Amino acid sequence: MNDPDRPDDAWHLRFEGFEAAEEGVREVLCAVGNGYLVSRAAAPESSADGVHYPGTYLAGVYDRAVSVGGGRTVENEDLVNCPNWQAFTFRPADGEWFTGPPDEQRLELDLRRGVLTRHALVVDRDGRRTRLLQRRIASQAQPHLVVLETELTAENWSGPLEVRSALDGTVANTGVARYQGLTSRHLAPAGQGLKEEGTLWLQVTTAGSALHIAVAARARATPPATHRSTELREGWAAELLTLDLTEGRPVTVEKTVAVYTSRDPAIEAPLPAAQRLAARAPDFDHLLHEHGLRWAELWRRCRIEADFDGELALHLNLFHLLQTYSENSVDLDVGIPARGLHGEGYRGHVFWDELFVLRLLNLRFPELARAVIGYRHRRLDAARQTAREAGLRGAMYPWQSASDGREESQQLHLNPLSGRWLPDHSRLQRHVGSAVAYNIWQHYQATGDLDFLATTGAEMLLEIARFWSALAAHDPARERYSIRGVLGPDEYHDAYPWADQPGLDDNAYTNVLASWVLARALDTVELLPDYRRDELLERLAIDRAELDRWQEVGRRLHVPFHAGVISQFEGYERLAELDWTAYRRRYPDLRRLDRILEAEGDSVNRYQASKQADVLMLCYLFSPRELRDLLRRLGYRAGHELLRHTTDYYLRRTVHGSTLSAVVHAWVLTRADRRRSWRFFRDALRSDLLDLQHGTTAEGVHLGAMAGAVDLLQRCYTGLEIREDTLWLDPRLPSALGRLELDLRYRGHWGVRITVDRHTATVSLPESHQPPIQVAVRGSTTAIHPGESRSFTL
Ligand code: BGC
Repeated sequence: MNDPDRPDDAWHLRFEGFEAAEEGVREVLCAVGNGYLVSRAAAPESSADGVHYPGTYLAGVYDRAVSVGGGRTVENEDLVNCPNWQAFTFRPADGEWFTGPPDEQRLELDLRRGVLTRHALVVDRDGRRTRLLQRRIASQAQPHLVVLETELTAENWSGPLEVRSALDGTVANTGVARYQGLTSRHLAPAGQGLKEEGTLWLQVTTAGSALHIAVAARARATPPATHRSTELREGWAAELLTLDLTEGRPVTVEKTVAVYTSRDPAIEAPLPAAQRLAARAPDFDHLLHEHGLRWAELWRRCRIEADFDGELALHLNLFHLLQTYSENSVDLDVGIPARGLHGEGYRGHVFWDELFVLRLLNLRFPELARAVIGYRHRRLDAARQTAREAGLRGAMYPWQSASDGREESQQLHLNPLSGRWLPDHSRLQRHVGSAVAYNIWQHYQATGDLDFLATTGAEMLLEIARFWSALAAHDPARERYSIRGVLGPDEYHDAYPWADQPGLDDNAYTNVLASWVLARALDTVELLPDYRRDELLERLAIDRAELDRWQEVGRRLHVPFHAGVISQFEGYERLAELDWTAYRRRYPDLRRLDRILEAEGDSVNRYQASKQADVLMLCYLFSPRELRDLLRRLGYRAGHELLRHTTDYYLRRTVHGSTLSAVVHAWVLTRADRRRSWRFFRDALRSDLLDLQHGTTAEGVHLGAMAGAVDLLQRCYTGLEIREDTLWLDPRLPSALGRLELDLRYRGHWGVRITVDRHTATVSLPESHQPPIQVAVRGSTTAIHPGESRSFTL
């Protein structure tokens, strides 16, 4: 991969040569995008052939399809693989179209400027050597524009060369092998042609959601083509350009493509919008320049100076986050898909992963965090409806969400080890609603924006609190409330081995977080201006009795304990211990322990073995002090020892089958075991760069882990917390990190600089007319004014 001797390697991802087995991962890692769309870095001459997969995904473009097969009917809403705008190939006049792979190749992704460059050499059957230099961007400045520039140089020959630059609407969703057999065709052709001024165009319509997608391309050759013609057939449009090649003299073809859909704001119709933009788009140099300026802005806003050997991964993670969600996403009404817009894994659905992403974004791009919350707000009615259908009040957010906010989780999933289709109960992860509430509260803490809380946040927060209150059932024997029939984040446990119904009782994470939500909902009612409070309580028909119940349930939810630790759920101690030594010996990789056991005719439900952090999520979301206070408020004694034992206990029983697990464990171990924390941090940071979950990166990035790992630098190792109108710092730098410097946005201040080393923490505020901020470092609180800088000895 990268050459460590190159000076600015932390900003360039490089791949030498062509490796069929690596191609999927490289396509994802080198994908280019801008928050409106992402295109995988497939070779332009390739098509979906089992090795290459030229996917392009547009934020929010989903399509629902029903598949019938094997006696089952399955309905899925998929993030649609949109027309392939990159298709580009060539042939010497009497030769064959180049379909790859080239004889030599080097891919280089410039993360600082968002440009993918490919150097290649193609030698044809007659020994003609043609050099290829291709550059690709998805403009951050003009999100509807993508460009592929190709420079061709004949090394040892001269003569005519024919180039084919196409728009391919015949693509399908075939990127994930496990989903084969299900309906994969989402696009129906809706016309293609060439406008008089030379703009090639293609329109398709999604089969179920009836969205129109239009692409229009302008191909410009320098020196100009000697001949141009068009190839049109249903779902396909291509331009053929004949270029006169002279040995050693490069010719360039600039393919500028405009993309619009019927979901886009500020247009009349997608096709004319795409045609107009393609015709009047500036040239590549201009586009490159303004694109570079946007990336420079983005990088300034993301500034993290950390001197360590993971800087390339750090930049790569931020890069893909900002390619998936940027200011270009804000008005698109889209959430954060767990796997980015980089592939078809999890069908482009939105899970709870934004919990890991917004913690980072709130302090960098609060307007993006707010747009993500807006996506949930627009689906509040859908969440209310889902709760009603379950006979409950309030809002029940779906575990998997896509276009309209209904539950999109699968009914069945395939265990590739046994070949069996199994019922999928992951939808019982009701904790997703609390993640939405947590994000609202954190956003309010980071921005201090009471209007946000009053207009958007409060309504959701109160409805989520209402849902928890409705779901909690009184248990007279315990004189406590129980939440039954749910799943925690560890989705390996979806039922008691002795029960015939799915779901578990009193998952500690769910209950403690529900109690926190109920408390914040009550705080919110207090915080709102009287005017708005009265309006909201009236609108939602919340009366004093209901608020009293929230108070009561929030203080009396049951949390199970056993052997001096918090139990993952009620009855956890009755599960068997797995023979870890034997299993580790038999299977070097236990991350998919659920599949292994099921294939053996056993079930992971029988064992104390977790896929990912579950109870320990509590230590991720709350500081030890906050968590102890939460447990005490629930009437449980909680000392240091409890959290220490709980951490040890679950760490020994967790297989980290989700990339999110490494993020949480890095966090939880920061204070107790710094070296181990650092190892988890490195895993989280490189989970996609090194494809640590074996082959899953080819199906899309893992955005929660990507952002969560960066957030470990931003908030965990600095001990940064935002609560009670104060910015808290309690640095604990791992030994591999000598110094950290961050520029944050906090409560209307841009560029709040935080510098931490082993001895000092410094906070500096730039000059502005904003009010001072409260900063607390290891217990002492100080007000810092604009233009001031304060250092604290650690
Ligand atoms: C994890 C979930 C996560 C999902 C999407 C699953 O493997 O168990 O916690 O939300 O992936 O990233």
